[in-house]
Amino acid sequence: MTILKIYTAPDPVLKKIAAPVVTVTHETRTLLNDMLETMYAAPGIGLAAPQVGVSQRLIVVDVSRDKENPTPYKMINPEIIAVSDDDSSYEEGCLSLPQHYADVVRPARVTVRYLDENGKSNTLEADGLLATCIQHEIDHLEGILFVDHISALKRNIILRKLLKAKKEQQENAAHKL
Ligand code: NI
Repeated sequence: MTILKIYTAPDPVLKKIAAPVVTVTHETRTLLNDMLETMYAAPGIGLAAPQVGVSQRLIVVDVSRDKENPTPYKMINPEIIAVSDDDSSYEEGCLSLPQHYADVVRPARVTVRYLDENGKSNTLEADGLLATCIQHEIDHLEGILFVDHISALKRNIILRKLLKAKKEQQENAAHKL
C-alpha cells in the first residue's frame, strides 16, 4: 500500500465534478486501499479520491477512531437516496483545508447506495458522525468543500489563509534550491 499526496485548497482538482467508476477493477481496489492508508496516516476519518488528485467517484470512511477495531467503508459511486427531515450540526474539518474548522448543518440521517470493492450494490443507513462524514465525502465528488456550506465571509477568511500558507510554502521551497 502507498501513502498518497493529499491536495489542499485552493486546487482545481478539488472543485471538479468526479467521474463515475464504470468498471470496478484491481486498480480501483488498490486505489481504495491506498486512500484508506493515506486517511489513517493523516490522520482523518474520511477521504475522497479528488483529495488525492483522482477525479473519480470513490470515498473511504472510518469514524470508529479505534485502531484495534477499525470499521472502514470503501464506497464506489456513492449516492444519497434518502435524508432525514431533522438536521444536526457538527464542527467539520477536512484534510484538504488543514487546520480549519467550522460548524456545518446537514441532515442528521442519510441512506447511501454504493458499490463495494467487489462491484456489489449495497445500501447503508447512517446517523451521527458517520452520516456527517459520508455527506462531507460525497460533497467532494461534486467539487463541494465544507466551507461552501458556511457564510461567504467565513469561507473567504479560511480560503485566504490557505492561499497565503501555500504561497509561503512555495517560497520556502524555492529558497531550498
Ligand atoms: Ni474533506
